[in-house]
Amino acid sequence: MREWLIEHLICPTCPGEVGLSLSVTAREGDDILEGELACPACDARFPVRGGVPRFTPAGADYCGNFGFQWNKWRALQIDRLSGHQLSAGRFFGDSGWDPAWLEGKLILDAGCGAGRFSDVAASAGARVIACDLSSAVNACRETTAAWDGRVQPIQASIFDLPLRRGIFDGVFCMGVIQHTPDPKRLMSGLPAFLKPGGRLAYNFYEADFWPWLQGIKYALRLVTPHLPTGATLALSRALVRVFFPLTAAFARLPVFRTLNVMIPICPVHDSVLTPEQRYAWTVLDTFDWYSPRYEKRQKHKEVIRLLTDAGMTEVTGRAGAVIARAPTRG
Ligand SMILES: C[S@@+](CC[C@H](N)C(=O)[O-])C[C@H]1O[C@@H](n2cnc3c(N)ncnc32)[C@H](O)[C@@H]1O
Ligand SMILES: [Zn+2]
Repeated sequence: MREWLIEHLICPTCPGEVGLSLSVTAREGDDILEGELACPACDARFPVRGGVPRFTPAGADYCGNFGFQWNKWRALQIDRLSGHQLSAGRFFGDSGWDPAWLEGKLILDAGCGAGRFSDVAASAGARVIACDLSSAVNACRETTAAWDGRVQPIQASIFDLPLRRGIFDGVFCMGVIQHTPDPKRLMSGLPAFLKPGGRLAYNFYEADFWPWLQGIKYALRLVTPHLPTGATLALSRALVRVFFPLTAAFARLPVFRTLNVMIPICPVHDSVLTPEQRYAWTVLDTFDWYSPRYEKRQKHKEVIRLLTDAGMTEVTGRAGAVIARAPTRG
C-alpha cells in the first residue's frame, strides 16, 4: 500500500471518523508491504499483509469461493493482460462514464474481484481504492501493480467500509450486489462515500423472466454453494465439457441462440476471444454461477426508486444497470 491511502482510512468500528496510525515493518521503496494500522481511540489493530491492509479476520467471510476464483483466473478478464476490450466495454457501457472524465479522479471499486474494472479506470488516469472481502484482493494487487500505486486494494466488507465519507468522485459496484446478503442495504449505503455531485454506477442481475428458463441451474444451486470449492469446480468443468460444443453450435445460429439460456452452463462465445479463452471464460462464469452463497436478483425500477428516495439525482437505468449522481451542495 502507498502512503496516499492512509488519509482516507478510518476505524471501521469507532463512531465518527477516527483516522488510523501506521507502523511499518517492511517496505519496498514507497510500497508498504507489512505493518499494522492502529486506532488511537479503541486500540483496534489491522494488519497490512502482502501490501494490502486487512480489515477482516482470515476466513471470516462468505466469499471464499470468490477468493479462489479470482486468484485462479486472475488475468483472464483483464483487458490489458488478455488482449481484448470486453471489460472496458462493459465498464463504460454500464456506467456511462467518459474515459476523459476519469483522469485524476478518486474512485471506489466496491467488490473489485481480480480488478478488471479498477484496471480500466486506472488506465483512464483515475486513482482507485479497490475493496473486496475475499482474498481476491491479492489477485487485484498483482493485476494492477502496473499502475504504480494508483490502484490500492483493501480487504474489507463494503457493508462496513473503513473509509471516510464524501471523498470519492465516483463509486462503482459491478457484478457484486446480487452476491451479498442484503443488496438494498448495500445500494443505499454506498452513496454516502460520494463527494457532492459524485457519480454512482451499479450493475446487477435483473429480476426478469430468464431464471424461469434456467430450472437446472437453480436446482443445482440448491446444493452447489454448500459443496467444497473443489467439488463445485469439478462439476462446473464437467458441465462445460458436456455442453460447451452444443452452446457453440447454437451461438452460430440466430434462431437457436436463445436456447442457450436453458443449458446449465454460462457460455461465452465472443468472437474477439481466442477459442481457448472462450472455453476458460465459460468455465469461470459457470463456476461463478454455481459457487456463490447468494444470488439475489433486483428490479432496476426498484433500484431507481431506492436511489431517488435516498436523495440521489439524475437517477436513470435499464435492465441490470442503474447510474446516478450525488446532489451538489447549495
Ligand atoms: C462476481 S465477483 C465480481 C468482481 C468484479 N467486480 C468483477 O466484475 O469482475 C463479486 C465480488 O464481490 C465480492 N464481495 C461480495 N460481498 C462483498 C462484501 N460484503 N464486501 C466486499 N466484497 C464483497 C466478492 O468477494 C467477489 O470478489
Ligand atoms: Zn476504533
